[in-house]
Formats: sequence, C-alpha cells, structure tokens
Amino acid sequence: MSHSGDQNRGSFSSKFGVIAAAAGSAVGLGNIWKFPYITGEFGGGAFLFVYLGFIIAIGLPIMISELMIGRRGRQNAFGSFKVLAPNSKWRVTGLFGVVAAYLILSFYGVVAGWSLHYAVEALVGNLSDRTPQEFEVLFTSFIEKPVLPVLWQLLFMVITSVIVLLGVQKGIEKYSKILMPVLVIILVVLVVRSITLPGAGKGLEFLFKPDFSKFNMEGVLSALGHAFFSLSLGMGTLITYGSYINKKNNLGKTALQVTLADTIIALLAAMAIMPAVFAFDIAPGSGPGLVFMTLPNVFQQMPGGQFFSILFFVLLSVAALTSSISILEVIVAFFVEEFKLNRKVATLLAGITTAIVGVFCSLSMGILNFPAFIGKNLFDTLDFLASNVFLPLGGLLIALFVGWYYGKKKTLQELTSEGKYKVKFINSLMWSLKYIAPLAIFVVLIYGILENLETYLKVEILPW
Ligand code: TRP
Repeated sequence: MSHSGDQNRGSFSSKFGVIAAAAGSAVGLGNIWKFPYITGEFGGGAFLFVYLGFIIAIGLPIMISELMIGRRGRQNAFGSFKVLAPNSKWRVTGLFGVVAAYLILSFYGVVAGWSLHYAVEALVGNLSDRTPQEFEVLFTSFIEKPVLPVLWQLLFMVITSVIVLLGVQKGIEKYSKILMPVLVIILVVLVVRSITLPGAGKGLEFLFKPDFSKFNMEGVLSALGHAFFSLSLGMGTLITYGSYINKKNNLGKTALQVTLADTIIALLAAMAIMPAVFAFDIAPGSGPGLVFMTLPNVFQQMPGGQFFSILFFVLLSVAALTSSISILEVIVAFFVEEFKLNRKVATLLAGITTAIVGVFCSLSMGILNFPAFIGKNLFDTLDFLASNVFLPLGGLLIALFVGWYYGKKKTLQELTSEGKYKVKFINSLMWSLKYIAPLAIFVVLIYGILENLETYLKVEILPW
C-alpha cells in the first residue's frame, strides 16, 4: 500500500472544505440535543466546567492525533494503523471504531428522525398554541409510537446513505460548507430570545455557576464520554477524514478551529435551552426530550416563531446529517478497503444494517421499552456503551499509540508538514498523550463504570 496518497481515494478540495467537513462531523445532535440535557442531568455548571477541561486537556490532543494518523496512513481507521504500525495489534483500535460506529449510528438516526418529524410539525403549524405540558406530552406520545418515528428514522438513514454514496467531495464537503454558518446564526437569534424571557436568569445561573454537591463520578464519566462524542473522537471518524486531507494542511490549526467551533455551538445551544427550561418550568433533567419539549415554547413567543422553528428543526436535521455521514463513512471506508467491496455495496450493507439496529432502538422508546443492560433500554444502552465505554477506550488507545509507539519525531514531521509550519505545542501535546489523557481516561472509565453498576445494583463497591 503506498504511503503518499493513492489516486483512487477521494480527497477534500480546499482548506475550508476540510474544516467544514470536520466541523460538520463534530457539530451535530451531540451539541444541540445531547449536551444541554446531560448538562441538566448532572447539575449544570459543574458538569460544564469538567467537560471544558476534558475538551482542552484530552479532546484537542486526541483530535490532532487522529487527523495525523489518518493523513499519514491514507487509509480507513483500521487500515491506517496497519500502515503506521505494521504487524502489530494496534489495528484493533480501528475495529473498536467500527463497532462504535454501529452503536452510535443506530440511536443517532432515531433522534435525527425525531428532528425531521419536528421540522414537518413546525411546517404544518402543529407547534403553536400549546402549554409547556402539552409540548411534553406531544413529544413523549410521539416517540412511543411504533410506526411513525421508525419511518422518519429510516428516511434519515436513506438520506445519509445516498450522500455517503456520492463520495467525499460531491457529497460530504458540499453540504457541510453552506449549512453550518446558517445554523450558527439561528442559534444566536434563539439565545437572544431565550435569555430575555422572564425568569431566564435562573437558567444562566444553573449553567454557569458550578454546584459540585450534585456532581459525582458518573457525571465525570459522562463529561468525558461526551467530550469524545461531541468532537467525533475515539472511533476513527477523524482518522478517516484525515486520510482525505492533503499534506499541506496545518493539522494543529484545523483541530483547534474545529474544537472551538464545536464548543461554541454547544455553549450556544445550552444558552438557548437552559434559560427557557427555567422560564417555562421544565425539569432540566428531563432527558432526551429536553430540546423538543423546551424550544417550541420559545418559538411560540417570538415574532416569526413558526418560520424560526421550521428553520431550526431543518438545520438540526442537517447538522445531524453532516455527522451521520461521517459515522457511516467509517464503516464504508472499512468495508471498501479491507474487504475490497465496491462503494455502492459497502454503503448499502452498512446503511441497511445500522438502520435495522436503529429500528429496535426506536421501538425501545415504546413497545420494546424494557431493560436491555444495567437497567437501561436499548436506546440508552447503545448511547451509554458507545459514549462512555467505546469512545474513551478508543481515545485511550489512540493516545497511547501516538504518545508511546509512534513518538514525537514522526508526529512532529507530520504536524509541521515536513517543516512548513511551527508546532510550538508539541511538548504539551506529547505530555498529554503520554500521561494525562491515558491516566485520566483510565481512572474515569473504571470509576465511572463502577459507579454506574453501584447505582444499578444498589450496592456499595467504591469506598465512597
Ligand atoms: N460529533 C457528532 C455530534 O456531536 C456525532 C459524531 C459524528 C460522532 N461522528 C462521530 C461521535 C464519531 C463519536 C464519534 O453529534
């Protein structure tokens, strides 16, 4: 396998295209749907601060590592490890990634389907003249249905597969470029409306004033897992995308820009939602329905509310789409390069199989709602296993790989594009990859999982 770029592989056409695609992958349901509700569940400010700490100390270094591995290996997540570490076991990291991609895409498609449905509800005027309680019922009765949410989920998976089929430039890059900036604008408008609602101050306080008394190791694990989830790390998405980036790109800078964009959008989403949660007396720990139950109240109180609500749910679906294609792409690139399948067959296979698991995920909100694993239904199980086990584990292996195996010299060579750029952060980067990230992930993973078990089994395992 040649090292220096293979003419048959897709690639990104411009610097902006790279950032748009990587940011398109990072910014998604994780930022707008998940971040606000888990922040609510784990007490607000304390969670936010721990999350930001993980983003800087662990997320950014691992993002740089993934892009570096991919661009050097010029292969899918599994194949890149084969190129960089021939005849070693490191390639298993890539396999974990493919499994994680399956877990994530299954429930991701379900939530994206909800968001498509809400776009249509907004369009036909169903999201107006309701009380906050009515919005709650509207949401819960919808997701429990056996057929409608499944149809939306399947539609979303079809769209995802078609775009992946179109390939890197025509599909992934083109769509990311236009729609990301529009999303930011609408979020800013929402924040302005939300923080000027009567009673909104309490929401901002909840979000920015840390109360560590409600915070525990489960929260720390979720913050870590979400840092990985939100930045699209730990399963080879950015290895795969890195393999499409040309040698002149300044990877450190790209990673920093993507991290900043992702974090700012998550903060904007939380600032749009939390004040409204308090203004309309909704529980901040309401779970996966929080966005869907909260924001319609805000739209209702805005001039042009219907227009904004349509736009918002369409853009949320689009943000989900630019992320879901990056998840499916991990599986497809793996199938194509490792099993020599043609791209069409690989996409069809990956799309159909993830959609099937997704159907069960959707049904687990209603007729199949029973505990699949430590008291969680299938939907929550896949989310938990992916974000809180597989991604941190993948991140741990990637940090160890670059920190201890691949080493500073070759990393520096790649990050400077053979001497073209200055990389002043190399020592802090290596320090994080060798020590901070592996240790922190290891400790948080063990304690977090034990605490989850404690809660489930109602026994004391840990000394506190
Ligand atoms: N980061 C995306 C979001 O926040 C989801 C996502 C895309 C992802 N690719 C990933 C999560 C890879 C983990 C790993 O919605």
